[in-house]
Amino acid sequence: MELKAGFGKIFQENPEGIYFAPGRVNLIGEHTDYNGGNVFPCALTIGTYGAVKKRRDQMVRLFSENFEHKGVIQFSLDELVYDRRHDWANYPKGVIKVFVESGFRIPYGLDLYYSGNIPNGAGLSSSASIEVLTAFILKELFQLSVETIELVKLCQKAENEFIGVNSGIMDQFAVAMGQKDKAILLDTNSLKYRYADIRLKDASIIVTNTNKKRGLQDSKYNERRAECEEALRRLQKKLDINALGELTSKELIENKHLIEDPVLIKRALHAVTENERTLLAVKALESENIREFGKLMYASHESLRDDYEVTGAELDTLVEAAGKVDGTIGSRMTGAGFGGCTVSIVRNDAVEHFIETVGKEYRNRIGYDADFYVVSIGEGVHRIE
Ligand code: GLA
Repeated sequence: MELKAGFGKIFQENPEGIYFAPGRVNLIGEHTDYNGGNVFPCALTIGTYGAVKKRRDQMVRLFSENFEHKGVIQFSLDELVYDRRHDWANYPKGVIKVFVESGFRIPYGLDLYYSGNIPNGAGLSSSASIEVLTAFILKELFQLSVETIELVKLCQKAENEFIGVNSGIMDQFAVAMGQKDKAILLDTNSLKYRYADIRLKDASIIVTNTNKKRGLQDSKYNERRAECEEALRRLQKKLDINALGELTSKELIENKHLIEDPVLIKRALHAVTENERTLLAVKALESENIREFGKLMYASHESLRDDYEVTGAELDTLVEAAGKVDGTIGSRMTGAGFGGCTVSIVRNDAVEHFIETVGKEYRNRIGYDADFYVVSIGEGVHRIE
C-alpha cells in the first residue's frame, strides 16, 4: 500500500497500524449545533488516512502528504504548545494535548504519516477528520479507555481551545459515528441521536467546492456564535431556556421584542427555523418524499443567506445555478459557509448536465472554477489494518 511506502520513506521503518477517518457533509441543520439544535450530517467515503508507529522516546514526528513542503514536524510530549509554524500539525498536537491534560497516559511518542483526499478548508471537515483520526490512533495505540462520545468531545475541545475556533460538536461527531448510507440525526442539546437511511432512489449527492480561499479562524464564525449567545441572554431575561434550540419559531416571534436588535433577531430566527426544518427534512426523507427534502434544503440556504448572512456570492451562485437545472431536487451551502461547499441532490440522469451547466455559470460569474464531487456515504473512523 502507498501509505506504507510513504511511511517507510519518511520514517525508515514499517507502520504498526493503518487507520481512516472520513470527512463529513451536513445535509441540513446548519449553525444549529452550538445553539442546542438538530443537525443531520453523514460521513463521506473520502477522508484522512494515517499510518503510525509508537516510538520508545517522547518525540512526536508528524508528516502529511498534503503538506509535503512543510516536511516532518516534530515536538516532544512535554512541549505541546500551539506553534504557528507547525501549521496543519497543530490539529493533531492539540488533540494529544487535550488527551494528556484530561489524564490519559500517553507514555511514548509516535511517528505518524497522514494522507487525505478531502479538499482542505472546503467545509467538509478535513480538520475534524484529522483530529478524530489522531484521537482514535491514541486510543488504540495506548489502549486508552475512552468512550467514543468522550473522544468526540475531546476533539471538539482541541478545536475550541487549541485552534481557537468555537465550533459545535457536529463535525467530530459525524466523523467518529458515521455509518454507511446513513445520516445521523443528532440533537446537540441532549446528544441523543439516531441513524436515518439515505434512500435517494434515482438521485445522487453532489458536493460542489467554491474553491474560495477562507480560514475559519479569521472568518465570522466566532462572531455568529457570539451573536446567538447574546440573543439567548436577552431572551433569558423573561424565558426559562438554556438554548435557542428549545424554542419554536412561534415562541421566538412572540418574544422577539426581548432581543431588540434586528440583526440579533435575524440570527436567532435562523437558528430556530433551521432547527425545525431539520426535523421536517428527516421526516420527509424517511417517508421517501425527496421533493419535500429538496425544498427544505433551498429554504435552509435562503435562511443562511438572508437571516444568518454566511453565504456570499460564490455559494449563492452555485445554489442559484443548481436550481435552474432540471433534475436538481435541492441545493444549499453546507458547513460553516463564507465559501466552502454546497450540497445538492440531483437526479442521476441529470448529474452530467448539472456539472457542466453549474460549472459554466460559476466560472462566468465568479471568474474561476468550482470542483464537483459525486459523494458516497461511508463509515466513521476505523482501523484498516
Ligand atoms: C462548522 C463547525 C460546526 C458547525 C458548522 C455549521 O463546520 O465546525 O460545528 O457549527 O460549521 O453548521
